[in-house]
Amino acid sequence: MKGIILSGGSGTRLHPITKAVNKQLLPVYDKPMIYYPLSTLIIAGIKDVLIITRPDDAHHYKNLFRDGSQYGISISYASQPEPKGLAQALTIGEEFIGEDDFALILGDNLFFGHGLSEKLIEARKNNKGATVFTTSVEDPERYGILNYDKNETPVSIEEKPEHPKSHWAVTGLYFYKNEAVSIAKTLPPSARGEYEITDVNKHFLDNGKLNAIKLGRGYTWLDMGTHDALLEAGEFVRAIQKRSGTRVGVLEEVSWRQGFLSNKDLSARAFRYGQSSYGQYLRELVSEEIDDTNESIA
Ligand code: G1P
Repeated sequence: MKGIILSGGSGTRLHPITKAVNKQLLPVYDKPMIYYPLSTLIIAGIKDVLIITRPDDAHHYKNLFRDGSQYGISISYASQPEPKGLAQALTIGEEFIGEDDFALILGDNLFFGHGLSEKLIEARKNNKGATVFTTSVEDPERYGILNYDKNETPVSIEEKPEHPKSHWAVTGLYFYKNEAVSIAKTLPPSARGEYEITDVNKHFLDNGKLNAIKLGRGYTWLDMGTHDALLEAGEFVRAIQKRSGTRVGVLEEVSWRQGFLSNKDLSARAFRYGQSSYGQYLRELVSEEIDDTNESIA
């Protein structure tokens, strides 16, 4: 399975801070925002990633991630000249996707929770056509909203409904079978002039091929597209990290836990971060692992 991160958009809701810097490169506590969705793809077991950006921003991303080999993955890049909706990522990504199934994640989404990796890997296996992940929200008018029947079967999805039928928002992480690309190509733009991912998902729903997995209590989903949401996300990451001593969204760590990087690779990466606390954290991961291994041998 391949993965696409849509990291375009003009971030107008965050002006003036996004006038010169792309939203998904802004710091969320101690990392650029895009680290969080990229780490989510990695914990879903995805090693081949396309990042879609505005043409002018591509070089920043390339400076940040290069070809991804430092995380044991492959990263390539494509441009979205104009922000015309999420479903456009499927057509822009067509060549990259090739014959494969794929995941799409939005560059400003953060997912956190115990057992998320297992949940995502399980969802990949059971994907019939499209899989979405829903979470309860207070302000359903702002999102794609999915309604379930009493058997927890999805029955409708509406984009930003005036009169929402439920509180289950469709989050910005989607798993698709390859056929989603040809579906996206046939879609007309919506009333707001965008190619809506909700229309792609509706197509699968109408054909009985949409899975909608609830991320209930115990999972956190944040989008980071407003000033308050950006600050709250930073505070969230800080609180978790300070309290537990573990870190959220560290790419080298998640790749290493997936087996994409060896102990030796991780040590080499840690060395490159010098005396920063990020480098220190990576060094501790390796030394704890070596201690554990020695203990289990003893
Ligand atoms: C988009 C989708 C919406 C989804 C949301 C998640 O909204 O259209 O269905 O719930 O992402 O962040 P937009 O960012 O275009 O307002």
